[in-house]
Amino acid sequence: MDVTVAGDRTDLAKARGEWPAGERVALVPTMGALHEGHRSLMREARTRAERVVVSIFVNPLQFGPGEDFSRYPRTFDADLEVCRAEGVDVVFAPSAEAMYGPDRQVSVSSGAMGEVVEGASRPGHFDGVLTVVLKLFNLVQPHVAVFGQKDAQQLALIRRMVRDLDVPVEIVGAPTVREPDGLALSSRNRYLSGAERGSALALSRSLRAGAAESAPSRILAAARAVLDAAASEISLDYVVLVDPATFTPVDEAYTGEAVLAVAARVGSTRLIDNMVLTLG
Ligand code: PAJ
Repeated sequence: MDVTVAGDRTDLAKARGEWPAGERVALVPTMGALHEGHRSLMREARTRAERVVVSIFVNPLQFGPGEDFSRYPRTFDADLEVCRAEGVDVVFAPSAEAMYGPDRQVSVSSGAMGEVVEGASRPGHFDGVLTVVLKLFNLVQPHVAVFGQKDAQQLALIRRMVRDLDVPVEIVGAPTVREPDGLALSSRNRYLSGAERGSALALSRSLRAGAAESAPSRILAAARAVLDAAASEISLDYVVLVDPATFTPVDEAYTGEAVLAVAARVGSTRLIDNMVLTLG
């Protein structure tokens, strides 16, 4: 069966209605410009359900003024080929008008956890993410949804939303896919020039330098040293070591998993990366 493209909730409900009630449905939400990272999520989804739905929607709600909403890469034909090659059952690709009525007013609030780290740099971003993800859950009604660890705070907030709002969806996190030289795959990498791509390696290099240490202060110092050395090529936004469930900074006595997260601008492109470390 070829992949079915659904452009609105009616098409989607029709496609979904053709599947036997006992079959499990997995959802992989994306904004398109699909790469190997997205493909790994589709494969993970495939191991967990009979049916895989991929949504492709550049969600205006999660972009701030001055961010890259209008220039975000839109490569629908190539994306459809990727989904076809991965055996995806349905691609849900609504227009902004199909998703949001002109009179929409109710949305999801990400709370304090949505205002720290990435949320401090992008006010309102996580409210926009959670609002669209909850809508996608309601429209697709998946049993399971797969998200990348690449966006660690997003994943943590989605887990939190599901818990706090009793959303009946199992959330699965999947590891970050990287280029052989360490660069985390991202749809935004295609904005980078050759030289900028070289500069962008400072992010993953800083995480590896941090991971070689064991105490929080030394982890941060090692990561910062790499980023400081690259200061003429990248503009650092933050480097933090946080509790993976709350995104609050860990103290020196902390034990267990922690997320070392970094964000920086390379030219006009803002990139994020992170690594999960086990402390103590
Ligand atoms: P997007 O940036 O397209 O990412 C879609 C999914 O792919 C996310 O779960 C993200 O964490 C994952 N992903 C991105 N790069 C990855 C990589 N290198 N390795 C593994 N997974 C990777 O994240 C969004 O879209 C949006 O915020 C969305 C959740 C779709 C809501 O609009």
